[in-house]
Amino acid sequence: MDYLTIEGGHKLSGSVTISGSKNAALPVIAATILSDKDVTLTNLPNVVDIQTLLKLLEMLGGTLDHHDEHSVTVNNGSINSTKAVYEIVSQMRASILVLGPLLTRFGECEVSLPGGCAIGQRPIDLHLKALEQMGAIIEIKSGYVRATAPNGLIGCKIVFDKITVGGTENIVMAAALAKGTTTIINAAKEPEIVQLCEIIADAGVKIEGIGTSEIIIEGTGGKPIEFAKEIAIIPDRIEAGTYLCAGAISRSDITLKCVNAQHIKASIDKLESMGCRFEISEDEVSIYPPNELISVNLTTTEYPGFPTDMQAQFMAVSIISKGETLIEERLFENRFMHVSELNRLGADIWLKGNIAAIHEVKELNGADVMATDLRASSALILAALIAKGTTNVHRIYHLDRGYENLEGKLSALGAKITRNR
Ligand code: UD1
Repeated sequence: MDYLTIEGGHKLSGSVTISGSKNAALPVIAATILSDKDVTLTNLPNVVDIQTLLKLLEMLGGTLDHHDEHSVTVNNGSINSTKAVYEIVSQMRASILVLGPLLTRFGECEVSLPGGCAIGQRPIDLHLKALEQMGAIIEIKSGYVRATAPNGLIGCKIVFDKITVGGTENIVMAAALAKGTTTIINAAKEPEIVQLCEIIADAGVKIEGIGTSEIIIEGTGGKPIEFAKEIAIIPDRIEAGTYLCAGAISRSDITLKCVNAQHIKASIDKLESMGCRFEISEDEVSIYPPNELISVNLTTTEYPGFPTDMQAQFMAVSIISKGETLIEERLFENRFMHVSELNRLGADIWLKGNIAAIHEVKELNGADVMATDLRASSALILAALIAKGTTNVHRIYHLDRGYENLEGKLSALGAKITRNR
C-alpha cells in the first residue's frame, strides 16, 4: 500500500494552483443524467472519487470522451441501466447523488445503500423522505434503495429537518425534471450547491433563491434538459484552505492561484484571528503568517460557517498555537480520529465528547501514523511538515480520493515529501 514520507522542518515558498472542487464536481457529474445530450466538463480534479463516479456513469450506459485528465465530454443519451451497484457505491458514499437524477429521468432506479463511514453514521433518511414526498415509492431491500415513480415525480414543499448538502443536491436534481414546483426549505447554501443550481438554471429550468436556504424549482415535467456546452468546475475551497494551513503551520509565505477568496472566507477569518496577514486579489490569495500563531477556538457548522472539512487541518495548526484551543465538531459524531495520530507526533490533544482541547506544544517529532479519512490525512501531513525528523503517513488511499497530486504540489512549494509504492 502506498505511503508518504515527509522530512519535516523545511520552509515553503512560491505559489500553488488550486484544482477544481471535488465536492462541486460530484453533483455536476450526477446532474449530467438529467440530459440526453453532450456536455463537456472542465477543471475536474484528477482524484479517485471523480474517476469512481464517471465509472458509474459508464456502467449505467453513458458514454465518456476523455480529453485530458481534467476534462471529459459526457453523453447520457445511451443510459440503459438504472442500477448503481454496491461495488461502486461502497467505494464512495457520494454515489448516492445519482438517486435523484436517475429516478426523475427514468421513473425508477436502484442504488446500493452507502452504509456508514469512518467519520460517522451518515444516514440518507432525509434524501428518501423528501423523494417520498415527491411521490416516489421507496423500498429498502437486500442492501439497495429501490425507488419508483412510474408517472414521474411531483413538485411539493420539502422542509429539511436538518441542513444536508447531499440531500439538497439530490432534491434539486430530482425537482429539475419533476412536474410542477418544488420548494426546498432549510436548504444547504454551500458554493457547490450554488454551482449545481446555476448549471441547471442555465439549462433553462427556472430556479429562485439560489444560494439561500429556500430554493424554488420549476420542473420540466419529465423532459430531459440541455446543459451549456461546457461547464467549468469551481475551485476547491477545502484544498485551498488546506494549503493556507500549510503556509500557517510552517510559517511560510505562499500564494494560492485559481481560488475563490469568498468561498474560503471562514478559513481566512480564523487564520487572521490567529495572526496571519493576507493579500487577496481576484483569483489569488497570499498568506503571511506570524512567527507565533495565537490560539483561536472554533465550531464547525454549515456554510458560510466554519466547514467540518477544515476541522482536522485547523487542529494541526492549533498544535503549535500559543495557548489552548477548543474545537467543537457539530456535524459528524466521529470526526476526531486524527487526534490519536496527531498525539503520536507529540501533540497534546484531549477529547471530551464532540470537543477537542489542544494544548500548545513547542515541537513535534516524526513517527509512523495512519490516515483515517480524507481530511484527517491532510492534517497528518500538515503536522509532519513541522515535525523533527521523518514521518511516514500510511493508508493514503483516503488522500487520493480528494487531493490532486498533493505531494507534487507540496514538493513544488519546497516540502520534502515522497510517495513510496
Ligand atoms: C457533504 C460533503 C462532505 C462534508 C459534508 C458537510 C460531498 C460529496 N461531501 O457530505 O465533504 O463534510 O457535506 O459539509 O459534498 N444527515 C442525516 N440524514 C440525511 C443526510 C444527512 O442525518 O439524510 C446528517 C449527516 O449524518 C450529518 C449532517 O446531516 O451529520 C450533514 O450531512 P450532509 O450535509 O448530508 O453531508 P454529505 O452531503 O454527506
